[in-house]
Parts: sequence; C-alpha cells; structure tokens
Amino acid sequence: MPVCGLSRLISQTIVCARVTGVDLILVWTEGSAVACERLCPHEQADLARGHLSGERLFCPRHAASFDLRTGRISYGWPYRTLRIYPTRIDDEQVWIDATVVNSRAI
Ligand code: FES
Repeated sequence: MPVCGLSRLISQTIVCARVTGVDLILVWTEGSAVACERLCPHEQADLARGHLSGERLFCPRHAASFDLRTGRISYGWPYRTLRIYPTRIDDEQVWIDATVVNSRAI
C-alpha cells in the first residue's frame, strides 16, 4: 500500500505512518526509503523525534542508536533489534507490504 509521497519524505526526512494499525516511521537516508517501527525497543520512546547520522537513527531518550539497514542496536545495549520493513518506490510514492508489517508486528 502507498504510505507517503516520495517528495514529502525527502523534504521531511522522517515521516510517521500507520499501516494496518501498526505505527511506523519512514526515514529517508542515503538516498533510499527505510521503514521501521516507531517505538524504541528499550522504553518505547518515539523514534520519530530521534535524529539521523548517516544510516543510524538515534533514540531521543537515551541515545541508543539503530542501524537502519539491519535494525541492530548500538553496542552495549542488550535489547532486541528494531523491526525494519521493506519498502519500494513506485509512481512517486513509497509503498509498504502490509502483510509483512502485520507478520512482524507481534
Ligand atoms: S528509550 Fe530508546 S534508548 Fe531508551
């Protein structure tokens, strides 16, 4: 399903979205669109308020960071990886496969 216009994502860098009841963020990084869960796996801070450095997304609360290619959390943090969802760009829209979002939301 289409979740965001490409030009909007490029201009805003981080955009919130909701796909079949799951809160996500879209991130424009290194020339591509990445979708991931919105809440930090540590204490559920809103990652939409985080900041980017290259392909790392930093949590706004305690500054753990996540590799947006793998979801892996920064060294020393014993928490699970961030859920990353595949995206594609077509017709100036960012698309997400809602079935994948649902299957990984649990
Ligand atoms: S809530 Fe994100 S690092 Fe603690």
